[in-house]
Formats: sequence, structure tokens, C-alpha cells
Amino acid sequence: MSEIKKVGVLGCGLMGSGIAEICAKAGYKTTVREVSDEFVKKGRAAIEKSLGRAVEKGKLDADERDQILERISMTTSLSDLKHVNIVIEAVVEDLDMKREMFGELDRVCPQSTIFSSNTSSLTITDMAAATSRPDRMVGLHFFNPVPVMKLVEVVRTIATSQETFDKAMAFAGSLGKEAVACKDNSGFIVNRLLVPYMLDSIRAVESGVGSLTDIDKAMQLGCGYPMGPFVLADFVGLDTLLRIGEIMFDEYRETRFAPPPLLRRMVSAGFHGRKTGRGFYDYSGEQPVPAV
Ligand code: CAA
Repeated sequence: MSEIKKVGVLGCGLMGSGIAEICAKAGYKTTVREVSDEFVKKGRAAIEKSLGRAVEKGKLDADERDQILERISMTTSLSDLKHVNIVIEAVVEDLDMKREMFGELDRVCPQSTIFSSNTSSLTITDMAAATSRPDRMVGLHFFNPVPVMKLVEVVRTIATSQETFDKAMAFAGSLGKEAVACKDNSGFIVNRLLVPYMLDSIRAVESGVGSLTDIDKAMQLGCGYPMGPFVLADFVGLDTLLRIGEIMFDEYRETRFAPPPLLRRMVSAGFHGRKTGRGFYDYSGEQPVPAV
């Protein structure tokens, strides 16, 4: 298999933009594919904003920023990923959509191209089955905010070859991240433990164990977590949390993965967390205020 020099990223939302940024920062020529010109524009703006913040903080100089941006090209066409050595998929948690994209890329990319997914809860095997290269498919699961969080879960399926897995581990390291090896079970390591914790926190507030702010304060100060569970849920996105919970419940049929009614109501009401200005907290003022 050839060396990794060029990276393709599918999706330039919260995760995809961060992934593209760190790949280009590590020196890889990075091609990012979004579905429309509007999303291309938004995605590029997110990368520019994040790099701009690093320049303002003196962590990056302006020349470096410009070089990183030059290494990133944006497209709406999947066939523009035909020259990349690794694809990292970071679109919404929709298995059919992911399978369709990998199926098409399988016809476009050379056999040596490694396919990977940043899925939070779907299994890599289900995506690999849509391609003719299940041995060259892994999970590369990053954490939000991607430029800050040090971890990547590298997921090996029962079909992944040792060579592909070794390359994926080395690639994660080349991005300045620490890699852990995971089996291809829904939620891998982190979400298998983190998602029930967030869902259980919602159940705790539903049953009156404590107020929103007291539960957040308790977990932050009592356990030394950087954020309490509701601040974290708003940060992840409540629509995303609901989707992950549904997929994990479907996989395991264990109640700890079942999304609680309050989460469903909040998503139906359009309260998706920080990104919509309201979730468990209201973010419209200077300081977040509890909204539940
Ligand atoms: N992009 C780039 N850099 C960012 C950033 C972003 N979106 N947000 C914060 N940062 C940087 C800041 O610039 C700052 O850098 P310096 O220390 O070098 O100046 C650093 O991160 C700390 O930021 P702040 O001082 O503004 O704020 P903070 O100390 O509260 O840290 C945080 C913010 C890093 C997000 C921290 O609160 C944290 O670690 N929270 C937990 C995040 C977490 O658990 N993420 C995993 C979510 S689950 C997931 O992603 C998996 C899934 O599949 C759902």
C-alpha cells in the first residue's frame, strides 16, 4: 500500500472542518467534499475562524495559517477525491447515506486508498459491506473540538487487515493525536461509556435528583470533569445525542442507551444545544442560563 500524502474528508460540519484543519496542519494535501456551494462556504469559514483564533492567541503565525489554508481544497464532487490515499467520512449519522458514498468512492478511488469513518455510533463493518475493500476500512473517531482533543479511536473490524490498521494508527499519530485501538462495536470505547452517562444525567433531572446546574456543578467539581453533563450534551448537540442513543439502543437493546422522553421533546422543539442558541441552557445572553 502506498504512503499517505493526500487526504479526503467527506463533510465539513463541526467534525469534518476540524478534521480537515488538523490534516492540513500536519502537512497533508486535503480535499474536502460538501454537498452544496453553501455548505462549502460555511465549512471553509469554520476552518478559517478556527485558524484565525489560533493566530490571535499566538499559537500559529499568519504565514503558517495561509499555508495550511492553501493545502485545503473544497469541492462538491465525490470524484475529486480520486487521488487521495485516505478518505475520512464525517457526514451525518445516516447509514444509507454513508454506504452510498463509500460505494461510489469505491468505484472512483484506486484499490490502495484506505476508507475510514468518523462515525460515533454506527459500525464500520456495515459501511465496509458497501465496498469491495473491507480489508482497507477502519474507523477513525475524533472528538469535539477536534483541534483540541488529543484522542482518536482507531477501529478495527473483523475484516480489517493488519497493514491497514497499522497505517491508520500511524496516521492518527502523524496528526499529533494519541490513538487507542477499538473493536467495531457501536459507540466504540468512549461513547459506550459517555452516552449512557449523559442520558442518565437527563433521567436524574427528570426524576428530581438535583437541578440542572447542581448536577453540572457536582460532576464538574466532584469529578474534575471539564464540563458538567448538560453543558457537554449542549456542546455535542442534542439532536446528535438523540441519534447516537437511538442507534446504540437498537444495537444493544439495553435501557441505559434508551433516549429519555425529555431529550426527545427538546429535539422536537428545535432545542438542539449550543448550535441553535438553546438546549438545556439558553445561550442568547452573555452567560448561559438554565432553560429546563
Ligand atoms: N477549536 C479550536 N480550539 C478550541 C476550541 C475549538 N472549537 N474550543 C476551545 N479551544 C481551545 C482554546 O483556544 C484553548 O486553547 P489554549 O489553552 O491553547 O488557549 C483551549 O481549547 C481551552 O479553551 P477555553 O479556555 O476557551 O475553554 P475551556 O478551558 O473551557 O476548554 C474545552 C474548552 C476544550 C472544550 C473543554 O471544556 C473540554 O475539554 N470539554 C470537554 C469536551 C469533550 O468532552 N469532548 C468530547 C465530546 S464527545 C465527542 O466528541 C464524541 C462523540 O462522538 C459525540
